[in-house]
Amino acid sequence: MWMPDPSYSPHDGLNKALELLVSPSDDSVDLPLTLPESGLGDIRALELLSGHVLGGAAQLGSPTSLAHMDPPTPWITWAMALWNARLNQNMLHEMSSPFATQAEMLVLNWLTPYFGMQGGHFCAGSTIANLTGIWAARDAAGVKRVVTSQAAHLSVEKSCRLLGLELLKVPVDRQGCLDCGQLPNLDDACLVLTAGTTATGAVDPLNLVGAAKWTHVDAAWAGPLRLSRSHSGRLNGIEAADSVAVSAHKWFFQPKDSALVLFRNLESANAAVSFNGGYLAKPNVGVQGSRSAAAVPLLATLLAWGREGVAQRIDHLMRLADLLADAIEKSDRLELWGRPQTGINVFRPMYSSTARLLLKLPPGMLSTCVLDGNTWARSVAANPSVDIDLVVERLLAASREDA
Ligand SMILES: Cc1ncc(COP(=O)(O)O)c(C=O)c1O
Repeated sequence: MWMPDPSYSPHDGLNKALELLVSPSDDSVDLPLTLPESGLGDIRALELLSGHVLGGAAQLGSPTSLAHMDPPTPWITWAMALWNARLNQNMLHEMSSPFATQAEMLVLNWLTPYFGMQGGHFCAGSTIANLTGIWAARDAAGVKRVVTSQAAHLSVEKSCRLLGLELLKVPVDRQGCLDCGQLPNLDDACLVLTAGTTATGAVDPLNLVGAAKWTHVDAAWAGPLRLSRSHSGRLNGIEAADSVAVSAHKWFFQPKDSALVLFRNLESANAAVSFNGGYLAKPNVGVQGSRSAAAVPLLATLLAWGREGVAQRIDHLMRLADLLADAIEKSDRLELWGRPQTGINVFRPMYSSTARLLLKLPPGMLSTCVLDGNTWARSVAANPSVDIDLVVERLLAASREDA
């Protein structure tokens, strides 16, 4: 007699999962080192894992969390992630994702105008978004090499290696932006400009957009500033790029893996990065085959918050980064590398080492970066719930102790 598999009906298992999310079990039982022969059962597995998965996680929304480009996620995205996991839609086929495909189109239609692009697609991160943009540059425009700054993300170099393209790195100026005076001839090149470099948040001169055969803007970090009336102008010029990468799992506050690659001429770019397997109703566009419905949590966030809600959070974070920079500048024990351009502060102690300073601070408060061979402390304003007064207080106290 037919019986549904009970592991597909949660009964009150999901309530249990929610209960544990709020108060994880402090069960510290070690996990088996080899594949268990028999399972523990769903509820026991949940209990056992809650201590590890929830208890052992970096607390991205804590009042002192300011280290990385990884934001805490708004709760509406947790609900959408649950729905997505339940439904397991595949964006590869419209048949396997009827609404999710529409959701992706809708979100792209909402967001692409802010970047002056015609459209694009979601992908698992900006490493893939950059690879896809540079791939289109090679196969739609025939570029022979890639020119970028020394501060570009390593995914640009990775892409060149994968695509067999020569890479030329141009030095940066004192603000960490690509030094225009050192550009080579760009007639056969893809110029990759960064809007918000990984280490310092610098924005390359976007008036260079259009100077090369193809311009790709890596706006993985700072792209969402386009939704802010106060800060959108920092990315002026992006609208003339040929392709743009934006991470949704950074300043759009989305769960991983979520990013967008956008194109100004969608038809020719798609033609360059599409494959048609006989089993597909439509060509497979981009690097990935099967893809999750990452647009759904972003759709929910944008619907719940509107443009204003996104902008208000980013504006708040930009203000917090400025306040932190003010405090560092006022301190006679800390040296600020430069005013924050896109919510990232870089600084170091004057009388001690960065490593010693970090040891005196809560984990997850700061990260480090290396500039010109020196290690600096780095903060990234990605957590809207950070308590900046507390961060300043802890930082100043640690710099005094450390001197
Ligand atoms: C400027 C920049 N580009 C690209 C990436 C790669 O993004 P992802 O980690 O989503 O692949 C990052 C990641 O931090 C980044 O800072």
